[in-house]
Amino acid sequence: MDSILVTGNGPLNGQIPIAGAKNACLTLMPATLLSEEPLTLTNAPRLSDIKTMTALLQSLGAEVSALQDGQVIAMSSHSLTSHVADYDIVRKMRASNLVLGPLLARFGQAVVSLPGGCAIGARPMDLHVEGLEALGAEIELKDGYLHAKALGGLKGAVHEMRFASVGATENIVMAATLAKGTTVLKNAAREPEIVDLVECLRKMGAQISGEGSPTIEIQGVDRLHGATHQVVTDRIELGTYMLAPAMCGGEVELLGGRMSLVEAFAAKLDAAGVSVSETQSGLKVSRKNGRVSAVDVVTEPFPGFPTDLQAQMMALMCTADGVSVLEERIFENRFMHAPELVRMGANIEVHGGTATVTGVERLKGAPVMATDLRASVSLILAGLAAEGETTVSRVYHLDRGYEHVVRKLEGVGAKIERIKGQ
Ligand code: UD1
Repeated sequence: MDSILVTGNGPLNGQIPIAGAKNACLTLMPATLLSEEPLTLTNAPRLSDIKTMTALLQSLGAEVSALQDGQVIAMSSHSLTSHVADYDIVRKMRASNLVLGPLLARFGQAVVSLPGGCAIGARPMDLHVEGLEALGAEIELKDGYLHAKALGGLKGAVHEMRFASVGATENIVMAATLAKGTTVLKNAAREPEIVDLVECLRKMGAQISGEGSPTIEIQGVDRLHGATHQVVTDRIELGTYMLAPAMCGGEVELLGGRMSLVEAFAAKLDAAGVSVSETQSGLKVSRKNGRVSAVDVVTEPFPGFPTDLQAQMMALMCTADGVSVLEERIFENRFMHAPELVRMGANIEVHGGTATVTGVERLKGAPVMATDLRASVSLILAGLAAEGETTVSRVYHLDRGYEHVVRKLEGVGAKIERIKGQ
């Protein structure tokens, strides 16, 4: 298994290009199942999660090809051969459940494995099921699979979600595009990836309004057609690399970044003493003075502080001046990076969903282990700011969500290399 060796660094300077959003791409790809005509995505990130989604769509009979070194994904669901999303693929990646809504809408049936336990909490699918049932689907759980049927077609309905789940919003919106009549989805998630999905569905002929607000209205149509769509910038990759100059000093420009994608996060950085400004081509980030100050963070659905940046923010707080309290409200059990950061000399106490971080002057390099995608990159950031060498093992987590991480950080002067495992 490969590992990544990071050597503590001085200031970082230069530019980092930000890729298209993994989470947007993972919901845009299943949208191909809604139409017989081709769907092409540009600005796609080159990630193992995208390969997993490719394999899943191909297992359903879709044609999926990666062009231009993977930045363009050309898909066609002209002749699908299966409506079963197998456990072997779904267990690798929870986002596989995003084929449920589209399959049900187009074929009136879908069989999708439950994702099973996940390292960052239970992550059930009850909100997806409730929404699709409101549209007239009959869904039962058999042998670990959700068996969903709506043989007479889905019917528009008014449905209010108990919690603004990102994935459930995506599944329900996709399903409602081909339902008979109007669907009003209340307490919908507002993430930029949902806005991106709706923009793509609209290009495919869907009639949707209200995306980005808590109420989305979908007027069902008989069929959707083909389209080409550019994937929105990855706000989590953006936020992650914004932390590199915040931790190490220097000035880095994140190409393709936009403030509207990271407003709550940038406000916290500003309060901690990190300057973020918009440029012609992205966002420029540098520390205002020397050491950053401690700030408190509560994770919330968009437009709040994203849970997917909590681990990386904790890495910054490890060397901040003062005591920071980070409260995780989206996922239980999402502090697995804390004990690894403690191995690097951080002072962190975790009680339930709250972590209290007392800043230390400097972290110390150590061998550490990646436990999930965002945790793994938080350890790399910590390693960049630490004294000495840090080896991060189990980097397959990183490959799920960060393309060319070594090349991108080397480009701004970081000492980082990938060590090939046996
Ligand atoms: C998506 C993102 C993930 C991000 C998360 C929250 C993708 C591929 N992944 O995940 O990176 O961390 O949003 O911003 O886009 N829940 C239920 N029942 C359900 C569905 C969810 O209880 O039916 C709970 C989950 O256990 C979790 C919370 O709701 O505690 C948030 O989950 P959700 O918003 O659905 O996240 P995902 O779509 O899985």
